[in-house]
Amino acid sequence: MLALKGVEAGYGKLKILRGIDMTVPDGAIIALLGGNGTGKSTLLKAISGLLPVWSGEILFDGEPIHNKRPHEIVRAGLVQVTQGKDSYPGMTVEENLMLGAFSRSDRAGVRADLEKVYGFFPILKERRKQLSGLLSGGQVQMLVVGRGLMAKPKMIMLDEPSAALAPKVVLDIFKQINRISRDLGMTILVVEQNVRMALLLASYGYVIHDGKIHLEGDAKDMIDDDAVRLAYLGGTVAEVESPALHR
Ligand SMILES: Nc1ncnc2c1ncn2[C@@H]1O[C@H](COP(=O)(O)OP(=O)(O)OP(=O)(O)O)[C@@H](O)[C@H]1O
Ligand SMILES: [Mg+2]
Repeated sequence: MLALKGVEAGYGKLKILRGIDMTVPDGAIIALLGGNGTGKSTLLKAISGLLPVWSGEILFDGEPIHNKRPHEIVRAGLVQVTQGKDSYPGMTVEENLMLGAFSRSDRAGVRADLEKVYGFFPILKERRKQLSGLLSGGQVQMLVVGRGLMAKPKMIMLDEPSAALAPKVVLDIFKQINRISRDLGMTILVVEQNVRMALLLASYGYVIHDGKIHLEGDAKDMIDDDAVRLAYLGGTVAEVESPALHR
């Protein structure tokens, strides 16, 4: 579904991504892990077209997207969900969800997808007429995931869906992400600081460090791996050898 080869990008003259290779198979949940400031969000921005790709290539569904504009990438079926902050607090929950469907003209399909989103997140249905500014942090997170789904994407990218949420709420969100994957066959790339939770959810994981993929492997092998823990804590990843990991 998504394939990156040697992707480089950054800000101004500052190179952050220094040759990223990554694959997200159709229907899979893939975790992208790494310490603070290692380039995870930068990578999502480069994939979404929000940041120019300096070199390398990004293929989505077989088509190059590294030169495309953000709206073209969304139209191709790849949607990024940013952290919960960017809901529109002065609009109702339902209006916020409908924003995700703004480029669609299949009204019956939009209606059906709205019901699907409410099926995943019943609290949003209960509160659909309320202003989204009144939602809790976890509910806002559900709202932005739901809004992403309203675009009817082939793949979604989630940037730290668990950030700043209480553990019980985190569990709830992750359960629903799992259901979205299963029920819709959705392809999902999830960036997380919550390494354990992300690896329980995903089938495969990548650890980014210093602008490169330093470790990757099956999620079940990575889960108790010291190398992953070190990488997450910003340790000296390059010096850690791990038999569970592919590189
Ligand atoms: N708009 C920007 N201009 C200049 N530098 C930036 C900009 N955004 C991020 N950076 C820098 O790029 C590097 C990678 O940042 P990025 O946000 O991708 O990290 P991250 O892995 O998502 O971290 P976090 O876990 O804190 O979200 C950091 O050193 C950061 O300071
Ligand atoms: Mg980030």
